[in-house]
Amino acid sequence: MGSYDTLDYWSLKAQKEGYPARSVYKLKEMDEKFGLFKGAVKGAGFKVLDVGAAPGSWSLYALRRMGGSGSLVSVDLSPLSRVYDKGLFDASNFFFIQGDITDASVRSQLLERGPYHLVMSDVAPATTGNRAVDTLRSLALVEEVVAYAEAALVAGGNLVVKVFQGGDTAEVLKRLRSLFTTARSFKPEACRSESFETYYLGLGKK
Ligand SMILES: C[S@@+](CC[C@H](N)C(=O)[O-])C[C@H]1O[C@@H](n2cnc3c(N)ncnc32)[C@H](O)[C@@H]1O
Repeated sequence: MGSYDTLDYWSLKAQKEGYPARSVYKLKEMDEKFGLFKGAVKGAGFKVLDVGAAPGSWSLYALRRMGGSGSLVSVDLSPLSRVYDKGLFDASNFFFIQGDITDASVRSQLLERGPYHLVMSDVAPATTGNRAVDTLRSLALVEEVVAYAEAALVAGGNLVVKVFQGGDTAEVLKRLRSLFTTARSFKPEACRSESFETYYLGLGKK
């Protein structure tokens, strides 16, 4: 990256390419490496759940990537940005729930709309700066997402979930190994080098 400030490089690139957040490049890299949306280009009916979707870069990537051949359900505490979507968030293959994923009524709405071929989660707690607290809060959300994946993924479906390193993340990976044919961690290039986030992937739900 030379002398570029990485934050500016990825954020400016995102704006130029029509995404509200730089995080889109993390998903793009994982899609290119692991074929997360491969099923969507093969035929209609591919369904994706985006957990922790605001401001909406991953959701826009998914909708653009799938074209009309798939559908997306997204959830976040906050609303999505409407600056870049060019009407995609009004399309009939998209449904957004504003709410908390740990809330029972949100959970049942999300499960009702499944099953899904891909569950992708970039969900993260509001950080406090205290790494122990942040890691613990993130872990609780990750466990929630894994429970969604277990309940709502089709056989053969994939999961990608953001994890703050530290704490009991080895347990999460162990759990993914029991649920998926392949489980691994991956840190995309667009993650800030100093950041302690990484992603866990579960590929091919058993
Ligand atoms: C890093 S951002 C996601 C960025 C998004 N992937 C994108 O590309 O635009 C993390 C999101 O997790 C959401 N979040 C945190 N806790 C949540 C919860 N309990 N339920 C739903 N969303 C939550 C936050 O509101 C925040 O928007």
